[in-house]
Order: sequence, then structure tokens, then C-alpha cells
Amino acid sequence: MADADLAIGRATPEDFPRLKSLLKSRGMDVRGLEQVPWVLKATIGGEIVGMAGIETIGPYGFLRSFAVDKRYAGRKIGSALWRRRLELIREDKLSAIYGVTAFYNIPMFIHLGLQVIPRSEVPPEVRTHWQFTGLKYRLLAPFYRALYLKV
Ligand SMILES: CC(C)(COP(=O)(O)OP(=O)(O)OC[C@H]1O[C@@H](n2cnc3c(N)ncnc32)[C@H](O)[C@@H]1OP(=O)(O)O)[C@@H](O)C(=O)NCCC(=O)NCCS
Repeated sequence: MADADLAIGRATPEDFPRLKSLLKSRGMDVRGLEQVPWVLKATIGGEIVGMAGIETIGPYGFLRSFAVDKRYAGRKIGSALWRRRLELIREDKLSAIYGVTAFYNIPMFIHLGLQVIPRSEVPPEVRTHWQFTGLKYRLLAPFYRALYLKV
């Protein structure tokens, strides 16, 4: 069960230093975080312990910055963030969502309802995202998989 005092809310500009350090602690990219229209934060007792972002690319959502503090991993905080993120995606009337993830996260994302798809099935405008075009993602392409969810 998630912690009883877990709260999910929208991040504010004052949260960004902590959110960036959380991403870095999980080896994740902080690129352009300030420009992401929706960044959710998970807090316990006011402390930020997790986050999840949604970018929009035309009619599509793009998942990014899904991270939980290592000290709190495996305590359903990711699931709580995911449920709220899905609500926002539905409210925004996005037609589908995409994302890129390391292969070892695939069982979790399948559990959360996403599918793995070939990159060729990702719409061209989504494939312009740096998580497809960036050097690291191109060099390590077999390590990363494209995710899809029809909304
Ligand atoms: C990915 C991450 C955010 C998940 O956060 P978390 O709080 O540890 O995740 P949860 O405990 O809420 O688990 C999420 C759900 O996936 C399920 N799950 C976890 N690992 C699983 C696995 N290997 N196979 C199947 N399901 C799995 C959990 O049971 C839970 O579902 P439930 O609530 O229906 O039981 C966290 O592990 C993290 O920060 N990882 C490093 C950063 C990263 O790789 N992020 C993803 C980038 S795209």
C-alpha cells in the first residue's frame, strides 16, 4: 500500500531544484524540465519523493521524468503518480501517449497497461523528441524501447 500521507500534486517552480536532483539521483535527464507543461510531484510529509511529467506533441502525450526516490522505491508511489498522470492525459483529450524506456522497465510498464511498439510505429512528430534523436538514445537504441498507450 502507498503511504497514508502520500500526496500527489502539481509541481511549482520552487520544486524544480529538488526535482532535478531526484532525476539526477536516478540517472535521468533533466533537459527542458522547466518547459514541461505538467510535472506531478509525490510528497510524503511535504518532502518530494517522486515525480512524473507529461509533454504534449500535437495530439499526443509524451511520458517523461517518471522517478521515485530510491529510498521509497517499491512502495506504490509510482502507481499513484501513474494513476494521476492518466487522469490528466484523459482530461487533456490526448489521443495516445508515447514514451521511451530502458528495457528493464518494460514488465512494469506492461503491468501499468502500456505496450511496447516498434519505433517505426511511433508518429514522425513524436520521433523528433530528443529521447529518440539524442546521441545517447541513438547509440543505445537496443537498450531503449518505445512505449504506447491508446487513451
Ligand atoms: C520506475 C519507478 C518510477 C517506479 O516507482 P515505484 O514507486 O518504485 O513503483 P511502484 O512500487 O508504484 O510500482 C509500480 C507498479 O508496477 C508494478 N511493478 C513494479 N515492478 C514490476 C515488474 N518488474 N513487473 C511487473 N510489475 C511491476 C508494481 O507492482 C506496481 O503496480 P501495482 O500498484 O498495481 O501493484 C522507479 O522505480 C524509478 O524511479 N526508477 C528509476 C527511474 C526510471 O527508470 N524511470 C522510468 C523511466 S521511463
